[in-house]
This record gives sequence, structure tokens and C-alpha cells, in this order.
Amino acid sequence: MAGSQRYIRYILLAFIVAATVFFFTSSTARYQTADQLQKTAELLKGQGSIYGGSQSQAQHSLSVDAAKADATTTAASSEQTSSSSDTSPNPDYGSKTHLAGETAPGERMNATFVTLARNSDVWEIARSIRQVEDRFNRKYHYDWVFLNDAEFDETFISVTTALVSGNTRYGKIDSYHWGFPDFIDQEKAAAVREDMHERKIIYGDSVSYRHMCRYESGFFFRHPLMMNYEWYWRVEPSIELFCDINYDPFEFMVKNKKKYSFVLSLYEYVDTIPTLWDSTKKWIKNNAQHIADNNGMEWISDDGGETYNNCHFWSNFEIGSLKWLRSEQYISYFEHLDKEGGFFYERWGDAPVHSIAAALMLRKEEIHFFNDIGYYHVPFMHCPTGAEYRMEHKCHCNPSDNFDWNGYSCTKRFYEMQKMTLPEGYEKEQ
Ligand SMILES: *[C@@H]1O[C@H](CO)[C@@H](O)[C@H](O)[C@H]1NC(C)=O
Repeated sequence: MAGSQRYIRYILLAFIVAATVFFFTSSTARYQTADQLQKTAELLKGQGSIYGGSQSQAQHSLSVDAAKADATTTAASSEQTSSSSDTSPNPDYGSKTHLAGETAPGERMNATFVTLARNSDVWEIARSIRQVEDRFNRKYHYDWVFLNDAEFDETFISVTTALVSGNTRYGKIDSYHWGFPDFIDQEKAAAVREDMHERKIIYGDSVSYRHMCRYESGFFFRHPLMMNYEWYWRVEPSIELFCDINYDPFEFMVKNKKKYSFVLSLYEYVDTIPTLWDSTKKWIKNNAQHIADNNGMEWISDDGGETYNNCHFWSNFEIGSLKWLRSEQYISYFEHLDKEGGFFYERWGDAPVHSIAAALMLRKEEIHFFNDIGYYHVPFMHCPTGAEYRMEHKCHCNPSDNFDWNGYSCTKRFYEMQKMTLPEGYEKEQ
């Protein structure tokens, strides 16, 4: 009898040990070492990873302020019931009511957050929103625009409306912007997907991923809901923000005449863009008037524009000017690329497209690196360099997981181009 009890105890112990090992391995696996990151970089081109599967089409946009009004009323009425005796007192202040002194003083910019998501992303985007709100927006209450190629469902709308402290708007993407343009040869495009699938190129066989890249490259900033704003901050599902943001980055952009910004940069997976630079050179040749003086060419090319070095800003995070994206020069570049067909005949991403455009059409001082915004999107982390800064801003990221000074990042090159001094302590993070 005693023997079998001991036997059971051993089994239990073994089980606990196994569970502990599993817990640690699975949680450390999230922030992999630099070496592993390099290997996975090509496999896990993070942005838009949610668009791996097949997709249906959709038509026009709708704004759901009515749903918001409902949600506000519900929140307000539940306030009275939440202090009943069988539960701890945790009053519900209502999603749009804020504690006194919580709201930051000063003017607001004409700006919005923007997210491309599917209904099934609701809990992943909920995590992102919560972090953005806790670290920044609870004091600023900027609006949030959600775009989807299908109609948003009630759960998505009510959950996100409750979490965002500003107004939320929900739009459906026009099928014309989320589909094959008529000049694309469908058979050729299908053959490319087949080939990329065989060569195991990540999302190589995905149609919806391509629609997503094309949409982010050329259309999101022209969606009717986005036309109400001049600045955007792109947020994807499952991101993390690691530090308090105690100022308004939109205002920073406006006041300092910035047009585009980033937190992570890296080298693009060449097999997805073999002819992007050739297509770009064709456009440059006919559009010299659109190339800025003092531009960022040296960041994207090591030989004065002959070849592309594959550096790009990781566009799943962006704070930028919608006016710039809507400008004649940017639209001209996008339309040229679209006609070239590489969104479908290759797998051009919106990250290299935005980055090349920014490097060519903006003056280099118009591009900003937000070292202070701690950020994670699988599989890369930007953890602000500088211990003092991290403490003051309550950052909870591990600086040794910072990707910036890794050989696969292009951020050091950005510092060199801008002739900025590398932040103190960067060597320790290499
Ligand atoms: C914000 O920008 C949009 C687009 O330029 C404009 O139509 C709108 O009037 C602006 N709103 C405010 C409050 O300035």
C-alpha cells in the first residue's frame, strides 16, 4: 500500500517537473536568441502574419458609432450593479469615462490608430489595444479605425469599442482594393504561387497575404474612414508595448516635421522581391521630379542606387503622414509598381514598398526612429537602449532581447546615415 502511494507520488512529481520544463521552454521560446532570430527571420516575416489563409471578398465601408453609443450605455448602467455583496468592490466607470486628471492636457493632432484585422483576430487585437491604451492612449483618447475585407461581427465591435478610449470606426474594404486587378494574368500568378510553395517561401502560396500587402501599400490610407485624418499609427494583433509613452508621438511628428517613423528595421527576404528594385529604377528614371533632395538613398543602397541592399522599416509598426501617402509622388510610385505586377508575380511586401518610397521621396530628416517606444511583434523586439530611460519609463522588456544592434538589423546604418551618435550602452546589446 505504502509502496503504491510512493509510486503515485513519483508519477505526480515527474508530471510537475515535465510541466515546469514545458512552461519555461515555451515562454523563453517567445524571445529567441539573436542567432535563432536570424534563422527564423526568413521564415517568420512577421507583418501581416494573420493573412496566411484564404480569403473572401467584400464591398463597402460602414461606421458603427451607433454600436458605440449602445456600448457606452451598457457600461454606464452596469455601474450600479457591480458593487453587490458577493463580489469585491470593483466599480465599472464605463468605457468612455475617465478618472479625474487622467487625460493629458493640450491639443490633439488629426490622427488615428489603424488596424487591419479579421473577426477571428479579436482576442489578439484586444491584447494590442489594451497595451496601447495602458501605455499611451488612456491619456490621449485618439480614435481607432478597424478595416476588414469582411463585415465585422458583433463580438469584434463590442470588445474593441469597450477597450479603446477614443472613438472606434469599422470599415469594410472595397473588393476592388482586395482582389486581383484586371491586368494581372491569373494563370501566371497561380504558377508563381505554386513555385514559391515548392521553394517553401513563407506565404509564397498565399493569395490573401498578397492582397494584404497590396492593400497596405496602396489603399488603406485612401479608405473613406481614413480620409478623416492626416496621421496614422498602425497597430497589428498580438503586439506588445514595453514602456510608458508620456508624450504624444503624433504631436512629435507634426512639430518636428517628420513624415514617417519606425522602431524596427531589417533586411528583406530577397526571394520575395527579386525585381522590385529594377521596377523602382524604371520609375525613378521617369520621375526625377519626385525624388527628394537629401533623401535616404544611402540607407537602402550601398552603390548610389545601382542595387538595393534590402534594408526596410518593419511596417507592422508605423506612425506616419497620410497626406504623404496620398501625395501625387507616392501614388505615382504605387501605381507604377502595381502595373509591374510584382504584388502577384512575386510577393512584394508593403514594408519594402513603404521603406523605398520613404527613402526616395522624403528628406532623410523626415524619417524618425522611435528608440523610446519599446515594441514586440513576433519574432523581433525593440527594447529601448539606455538603462536609465527604461527605468524611468517603466519598461518591462529584457534589453538583451533587443534586435537593433544585431547584424540582421538596419538600424545602425540608419544612425550612420543620420550622423547620430549611437545610444549609450548599445555595445552591450550586440
Ligand atoms: C482632419 O483631416 C482631414 C483630412 O485632411 C480633414 O478633412 C478634416 O477636416 C480634418 N479635421 C480636423 C478636425 O482638422
